[in-house]
Amino acid sequence: MNRVTVIGSINLDTTLRVPHMPKPGETIHAKEHFTAGGGKGANQAVAAKRSDADTYFIGAVGNDAAGEMMIDLLSQEEINVNAVARLDRKSTGQAFITVDDEGENIITIFAGANMDITPKHVGDYKEIIKKSDFVIAQFESAIKSTIEAFKIAKAAGVRTILNPAPALKDVPEELLEVTDMIAPNETETEILTGIKVTDEASLIEAAEYFHNIGIEAVLITLGSKGAFYHVNGQTGIVPAFRVKAVDTTAAGDTFIGALSSVLKTDFSNLEDAIRYGNRASSLTVQRFGAQPSIPFKQELI
Ligand code: ATP
Ligand code: RIB
Repeated sequence: MNRVTVIGSINLDTTLRVPHMPKPGETIHAKEHFTAGGGKGANQAVAAKRSDADTYFIGAVGNDAAGEMMIDLLSQEEINVNAVARLDRKSTGQAFITVDDEGENIITIFAGANMDITPKHVGDYKEIIKKSDFVIAQFESAIKSTIEAFKIAKAAGVRTILNPAPALKDVPEELLEVTDMIAPNETETEILTGIKVTDEASLIEAAEYFHNIGIEAVLITLGSKGAFYHVNGQTGIVPAFRVKAVDTTAAGDTFIGALSSVLKTDFSNLEDAIRYGNRASSLTVQRFGAQPSIPFKQELI
């Protein structure tokens, strides 16, 4: 069983299902409204745990009702939340999601307490990091603290996986230097490398860009097309499962969390791990919401 530590965001998601995306200035009626656990970090942790990884979370919520609810949800999953701070005078992160009948979504986040995770807080929980097989991070929380977590991991020989989402143009070199695997989607790849990925040749070109800055493994998710990998001389595209997507929220998070639960630390089984991640996220896209849509291992084997 892999031990996975996620450092990152916890959000309360509010979703509106609409027949079509409203245009600027337009008012429309939603068909449904619901709230659920979300946040890229929390979703990845839930996906890892539901695939049986021993899962730890480092993050922060506000000392408010939403924070209490989010911590309860993660605890019910049996994710270790000892390193989730409850911060006074801060709001818990929130995401406002609109999903249309084509399964497209628009998401606006208010990061709140997620941006107040401090390097000191990370350092206080360094033993959790040092005992992990993988440490995973995204870009919805304080980047200085992610750098601290990855540095602790790297010094201890623990593998680091960076999901550079939502896209950020100027990623600190300090972070990339301590990243073992990068896992962007197509848009994030273009923003980070300047290379538009349209075919296998451009995917390989983007992978080489990342290798040249010292990142060992490159994994680019391609939505309904699956995922591309390039690691230690091995490369390929693992196709996605053909399904009818109704809401792709948390597809990428499910993919990464599920993959981390089965991946070997030398990345030697990356292709099989991607197949497993594809299977998990193919179920997520057929259901509504972030955490409620993430599958359990029993559904995947
Ligand atoms: P999101 O931001 O929607 O969570 P993402 O942009 O980070 O996702 P994607 O590349 O869209 O990531 O999708 C991640 C994985 O989810 C894909 O590699 C694929 O396995 C699966 N997936 C996404 N969309 C579909 C789909 N329509 N049908 C089947 N699988 C899908
Ligand atoms: O990746 C999906 C997540 O992005 C949602 O759960 C929402 O909270 C936003 O952070």
